[in-house]
Amino acid sequence: MSRIFITGSTDGLGLMAAELLLKDGHQVTLHARSQARAADARTRLPAADAVVIGDLSAIQDMRQVAEQVNALGHHDAVIHNAGVGYREPRRIQTADGLSHVFAINVLAPYLLTALIARPGRLVYLSSGIHTGGEAGLSDPQWEKRRWNGAQAYSDSKLDDVLLAFAVARRWPQVRSNAVEPGWVATKMGGRGAPDDLALGPVTQAWLAAGQDPRTDVTGEYFYHQQTRRTHPAAHDPRLQDALLDYCAALTTTPLPGP
Ligand SMILES: NC(=O)c1ccc[n+]([C@@H]2O[C@H](COP(=O)([O-])OP(=O)(O)OC[C@H]3O[C@@H](n4cnc5c(N)ncnc54)[C@H](OP(=O)(O)O)[C@@H]3O)[C@@H](O)[C@H]2O)c1
Repeated sequence: MSRIFITGSTDGLGLMAAELLLKDGHQVTLHARSQARAADARTRLPAADAVVIGDLSAIQDMRQVAEQVNALGHHDAVIHNAGVGYREPRRIQTADGLSHVFAINVLAPYLLTALIARPGRLVYLSSGIHTGGEAGLSDPQWEKRRWNGAQAYSDSKLDDVLLAFAVARRWPQVRSNAVEPGWVATKMGGRGAPDDLALGPVTQAWLAAGQDPRTDVTGEYFYHQQTRRTHPAAHDPRLQDALLDYCAALTTTPLPGP
């Protein structure tokens, strides 16, 4: 039995992964953006161990989420699932002056990785459309470019793969992998999403639980329990390090060493 923390587990794939893991006898810590959403999550999954609360668009809340998780004790795995999609019609600026999509989809998984007591397994939710992402950090906060929500989302999901692979390289004793869940009909995916919703949460739950020897890998990208090729830039250590350095500077929190 493992103890697993899942961000953004009030709805969609996070909630579904929690359901799968609880059914298999694991202990699950949920995460909600607010007290009201925490109450919803408790109603949906009363078997969950605990719910931590914080809005992942704000650096201060990211820190508080990490503190709450650490106060609960050691977790064997973390699934970095919380995310916002590609439909934001304009650049939304967070309280920290960042792009909303970047803050939730990239900076939050970075800072939680840096601050939560190191688990044995890390899973980062990416997307098939990360392949259309632009590597490099020429304008990560969309201050120079004309806003394009789909591009901002693709960029953020490429950053999630860079982050998973960077952590795999920096922390060799941790199994750090990225997952593409398919385009499925959650709140984010929309009603018309074509892929099988039931398969959407399976791979991240499987990697986090770590009971199958096939999950004893790190620095891989999975789709439906099979490895898949990524955007080639995701394997570039210079781009990985640049992203870690950038997130460290924004949060004044470096990723701890091995
Ligand atoms: N659905 C797809 O087709 C698809 C495809 C590829 C990748 N993905 C990835 O899979 C992951 C989960 O997506 P999903 O489809 O399950 O999305 P979803 O149904 O919209 O659920 C997103 C979850 O993240 C939470 N969340 C969003 N913003 C937050 C914030 N600021 N603070 C705290 N929590 C926040 C949501 O909370 P609330 O419930 O309170 O809103 C919800 O629990 C994402 O990383 C996404 O990029 C999804």
